Amino acid sequence: MVQITGPLSGEAKSTVAECLQGALVDLIDLSLVAKQMHWNIVGPNFRSIHLQLDELVSLAREHADTVAERAAALGINPDGRSSTLAKSTKLAQPESGWIEDGKVIATITDILDGVGRRMRERIEQTEEPDPVTQDVLIAIAQDIDKERWMFQAQR
Ligand SMILES: [Fe+2]
Repeated sequence: MVQITGPLSGEAKSTVAECLQGALVDLIDLSLVAKQMHWNIVGPNFRSIHLQLDELVSLAREHADTVAERAAALGINPDGRSSTLAKSTKLAQPESGWIEDGKVIATITDILDGVGRRMRERIEQTEEPDPVTQDVLIAIAQDIDKERWMFQAQR
């Protein structure tokens, strides 16, 4: 079998692997949680938030792909299996059933807050071992901060 070798090795590679895997889990689950609320939201602000959540889903999926492919390019296997997500996600899960629009805003803002905080930790951790991965994570954090603002502004 062909071996994918990247420019990193040793401790640098394992630090970067851990950061990219953590980011992948955050982003995939963000896309799932946002879809769940896209489907279950009720309330007077249904339409705008319903649509906004789908924009977030697209963004999260796109970034998840970038992160997974960055890992692969470094010879690190991305793990996006549902069983892995279920075991390792740090995202609070929305309640089942209909969710009032105000609760959706509060929940998604908190979730984006956590995702953003963890992205910043990863940005710090990747600075020395791999500034290229750090650059990828910075671009993601920028979008997460923006999304957080756009949901929080409706609180
Ligand atoms: Fe839809």
